[in-house]
Amino acid sequence: MKIAESIKKLSTESAFKVFQRSVELEKSGKKIIHLSLGQPDFATPSNIVEAAKKALDSGYHGYTPSNGLIQLRNAVSKDALRRYNVDVDPENILIVPGGKPIIFFSILIFGDKNSEIIYPDPGFPIYKSVIDYTGAKSVPLILDEQDNFEINVDKMISLFNDKTRLIIINNPNNPTGAFMKKEKMDKIAEALEKFPNIAILSDEIYSRLIFDNQEMPSMLQYPNLKDRLIVLDGWSKTFCMTGWRLGWGIWPKSIISFANKLAVNDHSCANAVSQIAGIEALKGDQEEVKKILKEFEERRNLIFEKLNSFKNVECFKPGGAFYAFPNISKSKMTGDEFATEALETYGVALVSGSSFGNSAKNFVRFSFANSKDNILKAMEILSKMVN
Ligand SMILES: Cc1ncc(COP(=O)(O)O)c(C=O)c1O
Repeated sequence: MKIAESIKKLSTESAFKVFQRSVELEKSGKKIIHLSLGQPDFATPSNIVEAAKKALDSGYHGYTPSNGLIQLRNAVSKDALRRYNVDVDPENILIVPGGKPIIFFSILIFGDKNSEIIYPDPGFPIYKSVIDYTGAKSVPLILDEQDNFEINVDKMISLFNDKTRLIIINNPNNPTGAFMKKEKMDKIAEALEKFPNIAILSDEIYSRLIFDNQEMPSMLQYPNLKDRLIVLDGWSKTFCMTGWRLGWGIWPKSIISFANKLAVNDHSCANAVSQIAGIEALKGDQEEVKKILKEFEERRNLIFEKLNSFKNVECFKPGGAFYAFPNISKSKMTGDEFATEALETYGVALVSGSSFGNSAKNFVRFSFANSKDNILKAMEILSKMVN
């Protein structure tokens, strides 16, 4: 049997590996505090669950149109209008099983040999994995701690050349929790306007998890980029629906047909019941979502304060998502060593920075998608390791 060379270039998401190891340790009797997976620890709001039950009872058992139910695409379009004051044609929206297919499809559409795709480092590991798979050159855009992990516009421009086809931007960022405000996005958009051949994938999956009453600046708000902009968003993080597998992409008119074809070839359509639930999530009561955001902000404050109270740890203040990304170089351990010791010796599951790029070897990622009690317990345990 001979398999394709390209498939060997795919890598994976280490957070799932850490989770697997944590479960093994739990089975052998060890107590583990889970701060590794990027998944809200709350149940999906009850109005959404009810809508799904009704959908099952009323017969949503079959395929839907491959690009998603029109009622759902209308709801996504209205959501963009309400939140960003931008008109989006529902025909330019593709509903998919989770946000990930939008990453996969965008990179497949732009990546091949002799092309280059720029991705954030540290960043979500799937970007580089898929770029490498296509044979395109994966070009890291280093997000430096000194720049608050924001994009350095000069550095970004210095990576552009004739082969650059796509740049991936992720705001708020996984794994750093960095949030770039409108003033920063204005500068990035202004710079991108000067490079009309480069497409943009703006991964905005954490767009509603933003702290300190800041407003999300969507890339959709820059009309000059519209013809080469793909925006990824979805239900997984905001509405605690990771297992429902539902996300969306907003695409330029010129390439949505390719994305739609990939959807037909790949999965036919997203789950019908999830799609009905997705309508309720966008149009229904938002009280639970507000409560969840408040809780995440309190946890952010707690973990930020605790991590910085350790002698050998320095943590940047996350502005969004649910991750803290401390620099642990003073502990004299690498991120890999730190994460291994935290899990194997102390029972705290977290992810080494190296899982998110070569620039982040001296960092670890804490997901604060766990209760304040558990975060406090983890901090108390880890204080023995780092003080
Ligand atoms: C930055 C980023 N983009 C996309 C995704 C994919 O989300 P989904 O679970 O909806 O596929 C994740 C999930 O962790 C993420 O962190």
